[in-house]
Amino acid sequence: MAVLGAGAWARLAHIPGFKRDPLCEVVAICDPQRHLAEAVAAEFGIPSSYTDHREVLARDDVDMVDVCTPSATHFELAWAALEAGKHVLCEKPVAFDFRDTIRAAELARLKKLKTKLGFTFRYAPAMRYMKHLIDTGYIGTPFIFNGYEQNSQWLDPMNPLRQVDVDADQSVLQVSSLEGYGAPIIDIGAWAIGADYKEVVGTMRNFIPERMVRATGRVMRMNIDDGDIFLGEFANGALGSIQTSFVTVGNYPGIEARIYGSEGALICRLVEEFGICESLKGARPNDVEFKEIPVPPEFYPSGGSKAESWRTLFYANLTASFIGELLADDDRNEGDFMDGARVQEVINAVEHSFRERRWVTLPLPR
Ligand SMILES: NC(=O)c1ccc[n+]([C@@H]2O[C@H](COP(=O)([O-])OP(=O)(O)OC[C@H]3O[C@@H](n4cnc5c(N)ncnc54)[C@H](O)[C@@H]3O)[C@@H](O)[C@H]2O)c1
Repeated sequence: MAVLGAGAWARLAHIPGFKRDPLCEVVAICDPQRHLAEAVAAEFGIPSSYTDHREVLARDDVDMVDVCTPSATHFELAWAALEAGKHVLCEKPVAFDFRDTIRAAELARLKKLKTKLGFTFRYAPAMRYMKHLIDTGYIGTPFIFNGYEQNSQWLDPMNPLRQVDVDADQSVLQVSSLEGYGAPIIDIGAWAIGADYKEVVGTMRNFIPERMVRATGRVMRMNIDDGDIFLGEFANGALGSIQTSFVTVGNYPGIEARIYGSEGALICRLVEEFGICESLKGARPNDVEFKEIPVPPEFYPSGGSKAESWRTLFYANLTASFIGELLADDDRNEGDFMDGARVQEVINAVEHSFRERRWVTLPLPR
């Protein structure tokens, strides 16, 4: 397989995940910044480095391409990789408009290729065990989901902001945390509840008006949503709430998923605190104090534990999941581009809701 993008996330999460799996071999790394491609090739023992993704996609020996580049480039690169006949892992979002993500999902289906989104947190061992408990009846009928992704990553305005459109009209609030932080927890909400979002209403706010921006190297007005909240009704009658923010005090990654049902409740926290990156707690109607639920060893990647860094621990499960799907003889493919399109549709719907101050019904017009 080949990795496009030799930036921070490729180094901290993606490549360590692939390198851990004996079933795959990373043969190429590509970044237009040659020094980054070469440094990552040397760091991880990757035999070839490139500055042009087209040369990577032309290689016959590459079965899968990992798109770990700035968000605005994902669609073009994922599309080109699918057209070249490669299976694709893509960081979220594939595209900012869910209709484009659907088009990419359909191209993959036509070409019989598998896809996966970088929905890191559904692959956390504790989150996977929570899903297993839900599927085997622990909570009974699901009633309510509360999801959070929040931490203080950009509470300091001098921390250089990435993944933003510096040319955007700053008189209009730009979707930001809802996109970057919302996607994984919106995904977990539908996955845990077992139904799609049907109606949403939400709001978002810019709390820190001026920030240092990496692309310009200066402090400038950035009217981005750095906090947002929405309510959702699911197609099976359950209710949900989602809150995301990168200016709320707390540590990485800052995920919390709470699910309450007729027979029990589960709370999964993915917050690195005191050297531990995940926890799962549960309670029952006749035993309402939440107790720690140990996560069985088979939910961890080899050598993994909750004392490992969340970045490598969760991503190792994600890469192993994709490699397993690519090697399987069936059509198993969780968290694929179609799941990505559903999540993006919710993000687009919450944005409509905020701009028009009203409930928005899903699916949106195609
Ligand atoms: N899932 C998560 O939890 C999570 C966490 C962090 C980042 N991300 C996502 O991962 C992606 C990368 O983030 P990052 O922090 O590594 O960014 P980054 O800016 O550090 O790295 C991106 C790299 O991609 C390179 N690049 C640009 N165009 C390219 C092309 N055509 N071909 C190959 N390389 C190209 C850039 O030169 C840069 O070095 C973003 O979409 C980000 O939102 C996801």
